Parts: sequence; structure tokens; C-alpha cells
Amino acid sequence: MSSQPQPRILIGRQEIEARLRQLAVEITRDYRDRNPVLLGILKGSFMFMADLIRRLDFPLEVDFIRLSSYGSSVQSSGKVRVVQGLRSSLEGRHVLVVEDIVDTGLSVAFLLGYLRKKKPASVKLCALTDKPSRRRTPVTIDYLGFTVPDKFIVGYGIDWDEKFRNLPDICALEE
Ligand code: IMP
Ligand code: MG
Repeated sequence: MSSQPQPRILIGRQEIEARLRQLAVEITRDYRDRNPVLLGILKGSFMFMADLIRRLDFPLEVDFIRLSSYGSSVQSSGKVRVVQGLRSSLEGRHVLVVEDIVDTGLSVAFLLGYLRKKKPASVKLCALTDKPSRRRTPVTIDYLGFTVPDKFIVGYGIDWDEKFRNLPDICALEE
């Protein structure tokens, strides 16, 4: 038997597609006349962002930001910094942050504080997955794809040590 952890499907691609369709309806209702900036957190949000925005049929802009948290890839250390900043000004803009997974909540809490200093008209959060069992700081997720169990998640853009981002389903890594 191999000692490499194996991905097991938690949420299949059809379920993801169905949920994205519902999220697109909610986001369209709230943002269709607001020319929002959808701000993806790299790298994990890239696939979710791509699939989400092709279902949004109204004017919007896309930007990305890269955060880094010190420590191992599995355990968030809580010390977050911006390693690749914004290309656009957010002053007066409606910003929708697009994240792959909210775990302890520390990354998103840091980012929301950072963004508020840019004087946006509004900031909301859209997360593909939520792992509430490990939360260390309260976070409001305005648009949520799926709640996931306390397991290490990979696939659909989400990695383990840069691997498994290309899996089309949301999976849990099992020994
Ligand atoms: P937080 O700051 O603990 O909420 O974690 C934020 C980031 O840690 C997420 O955006 C992911 O990049 C990463 N992360 C947290 N949990 C997982 C997981 O189960 N699989 C892969 N990455 C994760
Ligand atoms: Mg992330």
C-alpha cells in the first residue's frame, strides 16, 4: 500500500455545478447594477472564480490578491501578509471576495481589515467551502458553496503542497 494520502470525493462536479448556479442567482440579484470587483484569493480560488463568473451575465471586474501565512501548509499559523497586491483601486467599489476555503478564518479576517482601509463602498465574502469546526475568529460568509467536515480538503483548485488542484471534484485527503 502506498503511504501517499489519497483524495476521496466529498462533493462531485455535478453537485458543484448545481450549487454554482444557485450562487450565481443570489449574486446576480445583489450585484447586477453595481459593477462589482470580484477579488479572488490566490491560488485556491482560481477554478471557482472561473466557473462562477461565466454564470454572471452583468458588468463586473476581476482582480486577484495573494496572501501568505507563515508555517506549514496544513496548519495555518495565523500570521497573514499580502504577497501580491491589487492591480486596481477599490475606492467606492463594491468588492466581493472569492475564497476557496474558510478554515480558522484568520486569513479572511485579515484580508477584510486590509480591504476596508481601501475605502470600498462594500465588502462581502463568497466562499466555496466552510470548515466551521476549526474557526478561531468569527467570519460572516455572505455566499457559501458547501460546509465541509474537519478533513483536509483538496481538488477544484485547492491544494495539498501544490498537488491535486486539477481534480474536478472537491475531495478529502485520506491516509
Ligand atoms: P484560514 O486562515 O485558517 O481560514 O485558512 C485559509 C487558507 O488555508 C485557505 O484559503 C486555504 O488556502 C488553506 N486551507 C485551509 N484549510 C485547508 C484545507 O483543508 N485544504 C487546503 N487548504 C486549506
Ligand atoms: Mg486560500
